[in-house]
Amino acid sequence: MNIIVTGGAGFIGSNFVYYMLKNHPDYRIICLDALTYAGNLHTLEEAMKNPNFRFVKGDIADRECVYKLFEEEKPDIVVNFAAESHVDRSIENPEIFLKTNIIGTQVMMDACRKYGIKRYHQVSTDEVYGDLPLDRPDLMFTEETPLHTSSPYSASKASADLLVMAYHRTYGLPVTISRCSNNYGPYHFPEKLIPLVITRALEDKTIPVYGTGANVRDWLYVEDHCRAIDLIIHKGREGEIYNIGGHNERTNLQVVKTVLHELNKPESLITFVTDRPGHDRRYAINPEKIEKELGWNPTYNFEQGIKVTVKWYLEHRPWWEKIISGEYQNYYKSMYSNR
Ligand code: NAD
Ligand code: DAU
Repeated sequence: MNIIVTGGAGFIGSNFVYYMLKNHPDYRIICLDALTYAGNLHTLEEAMKNPNFRFVKGDIADRECVYKLFEEEKPDIVVNFAAESHVDRSIENPEIFLKTNIIGTQVMMDACRKYGIKRYHQVSTDEVYGDLPLDRPDLMFTEETPLHTSSPYSASKASADLLVMAYHRTYGLPVTISRCSNNYGPYHFPEKLIPLVITRALEDKTIPVYGTGANVRDWLYVEDHCRAIDLIIHKGREGEIYNIGGHNERTNLQVVKTVLHELNKPESLITFVTDRPGHDRRYAINPEKIEKELGWNPTYNFEQGIKVTVKWYLEHRPWWEKIISGEYQNYYKSMYSNR
C-alpha cells in the first residue's frame, strides 16, 4: 500500500506518519508538505531513517508538483492533513486559508481522479458545525448537524468538505471525511492553547486566556485521532462522514489550570486578555457513528493525556525551544501585544 500523507510535517500529520510506520510496517508512506511556519523537518528526523518513508517538499495547491508525485508514486490512498490550521491567523489574514484549504483540496482530488485512487480521505474539523451554547450540555454535534461556520478558517474547511462530497457525487471519487475535536499531544505547535501554556509556563511567562476562559473545547489525545483515521481509510464506508471525539469537554480555564498544576506553576501566571473575535463558545462531539460502525474508542482521558503531553514537552525542550526562539517571537508580539 502506498499512502500519500499531506501536511505530515505538522502536528497531527507527523503523529499519523509515525503511527502508520509503526502499525503498518509494510506500507510506503510519502509525506507531501510545503514546510510553512507550521511544518518542521526536525519532527520527521526519525521517520527519515525508515526506508519505507519519503519526504517531498511541495504545495498541495501546486498542480504540476502534485501530478508529478502521483506519477512517481501511484498512491493507493491519500490522507489530506495539509492546511492552514490556526483560527487566530485566519482572522488576521484569510487569503492563504482559502488557497491551501480549498484550492489545495481541489488539486489533490483532481490528481486522484486523473491517476485513480482507492480512497481519498479529508481530515476536517468539528469547527465546520459552528458552536453550541454553554447552557445546553445535552447538545452535541452529529454528522447531520448543519454546517454553520464562524471564522475564515472554519469556513475554508467547510468549503473543502462540500467540494469533497461534490467530487464523490459527481465523479464517483471514493472519499471519506473525518471531523475531529481539538487534539493535543507531542509536536503540537506552541501557538495553540495547550503547547502555548506549557512552553510559556516553563519559562514563568504570563498565560493569555481569551475573554473569561469559559469557552469549552472537547479534547482528544492525538494518537486516538490517528487510530480513528487508520480505521476509516481501511474500513470506513465511501461517501461517509465520521465525527471523532472522546467526551472530554473542559473550559479553557480548567485546561490552563490543569496544565499549570501538572507543571507545579502558580495560577497567578494567568492573564485574561481581549476575546477572539467571533469566538466559538462550545464544541462537543457525538462520536456514536464511528464507535458503532468501526469499533473506535479513545484510549486516553484528558487527565492521562495531559500527563503524557507535559512529560513529552519536558523531555523535548530543544524541539520547542528552537521554534519559540525564531520568527515565533514576532508572531507572539503582533498577536498579543495590544490585547
Ligand atoms: P498544523 O498547522 O500543525 O500543520 C499543518 C501542516 O500542513 C504543516 O506541516 C504545514 O507545513 C503543512 N502545509 C500548510 N500548507 C500547505 C500546503 N499548501 N501544501 C502542503 N503542505 C502545507 O496543523 P494540524 O493541527 O496538524 O492540523 C492538521 C489537519 O487537521 C488540518 O487539516 C486541520 O484542519 C485538521 N484538524 C486539526 C485539529 C487540531 O486540533 N489541531 C482538530 C481537527 C482537525
Ligand atoms: O476543534 C478543532 C480545532 O481545534 C481545529 O480545527 C483547529 O485547527 C485547532 O487550531 C483548534 O482550534 P481552536 O481555536 O479551538 O484551538 P486553539 O488552541 O487556538 O484555542 C483553544 C481555545 O483556547 C479557544 O477557545 C481559544 C482559547 N485560547 C487560545 C489561545 C491560543 C486562549 O484563551 N488563549 C490563547 O492564547
